[in-house]
Amino acid sequence: MSNGSCVVIVGSQWGDEGKGKIVDVLAEEIDIVARYQGGANAGHTVHVGDDEFILHQIPSGILHPDRTCLLGNGVVFDPFQFFEELDEIRAKVPDAEQRVGVSGRAHLLLYYHKLLDRAAEASRGAGKIGTTGRGIGPAYEDKVARQGIRVADLRDAERAEQLLRRAAERINRKLESLDSAEKVDADLLVRDVMGVRERLLKLTVDTGRVIQDALNAGKRVLLEGAQGALLDVDHGTYPYVTSSNTTAGGAGLGVGIGPTMIDDVVGVVKAYTTRVGEGPLPTEFPSPLQEEIREKGGEFGATTGRPRRCGWFDAVVVRYAALVNGLTGLAVTKLDVLDGLEELKIATRYQAGGGTLDDFPGDLALLEDAKPEYESLPGWSEKTSEARRWEDLPEAAHRYLRRLEELTGVPIWYVSVGTRRDQIIHVKR
Ligand code: IMP
Repeated sequence: MSNGSCVVIVGSQWGDEGKGKIVDVLAEEIDIVARYQGGANAGHTVHVGDDEFILHQIPSGILHPDRTCLLGNGVVFDPFQFFEELDEIRAKVPDAEQRVGVSGRAHLLLYYHKLLDRAAEASRGAGKIGTTGRGIGPAYEDKVARQGIRVADLRDAERAEQLLRRAAERINRKLESLDSAEKVDADLLVRDVMGVRERLLKLTVDTGRVIQDALNAGKRVLLEGAQGALLDVDHGTYPYVTSSNTTAGGAGLGVGIGPTMIDDVVGVVKAYTTRVGEGPLPTEFPSPLQEEIREKGGEFGATTGRPRRCGWFDAVVVRYAALVNGLTGLAVTKLDVLDGLEELKIATRYQAGGGTLDDFPGDLALLEDAKPEYESLPGWSEKTSEARRWEDLPEAAHRYLRRLEELTGVPIWYVSVGTRRDQIIHVKR
């Protein structure tokens, strides 16, 4: 269990590992939760009592009293989706708006990025990435091409209008080149953005400064990653990735603090593997196990509703995630979904390209050819959803979890056995 003051939480597979639930649990002991990358492509479902919240941009820490929630400079920030989400939360958590802050350096993700995202996907044909359609790739493209509009750019209304009109012209040329019938209406764009401008500017903060001051004052900070290591633009299964650095290296960068301030990196993994969108998934289940686990685990995207592809736990993937993130602890989620399976398999390495691979390959062709080598362990028939301590779990679950630790080289700190906040085991050593 982490005792560090500044903890990073990262997805260590292909996203949807249940980070929202873990952040929600850890937020009990944390003062500030900050998102460092991604945008409304993320989707956390958090259950508190009988209420279900689906959060896309606002960290789940907002559901705890007094916590400050920040969106860092590394986020591509969709103001309209954000305020819609904030208003929904405010219906249950009245002071939510007083507890959120948005970096002035964050890039705005506007509706034209979504038009571009869809047009680009359509133009890729069979080579499509399977994006969430939330405009993420085009917003990061604008950022890197130094033609994005940042939250702080809204301060000067006149200049903001100029930037928006210039962007609308540029985007319309681009949409045309992609054979899209859509067009950006510059007047509408300016009207909409100006409509949220003042409310947004009131929330603007320097996230690096806020975090640094909090740490200096002895407070605890959690930096929350979206998506997972294998969707990282550098380390993931490129080009079937998202457009940001999801891994822990992106955390300091994405909120404005240095790497030396980070104490722990907790990797969240499902007790099995899932993936949405296109791209390889070496341990994908055959039918009917595929459908059985998808139903049992509710494996449908929180953002797009797409069915997730499911497979066995892949230790090659998580070993790699441990390396690129520098993981210090693991949180294993959805263990209860494996209840009742007679046999559990874990991929330990791959056969590919005429040889054996212990390390996750960077070459997509090799990965597409990879055949996992499996180790088999006995399952358990008991229900694990009521377990609250390590000792409450069946012996076969202990063996399975211990083996995951051995194969990944990372100790397990938390085991989640259901969607509710209390369905968590803090593994004590
Ligand atoms: P984008 O981030 O919308 O550009 O999508 C790029 C890839 O990342 C696609 O395969 C998406 O399915 C995947 N992706 C993006 N966000 C998430 C997420 O929150 N969970 C799981 N996959 C995601």
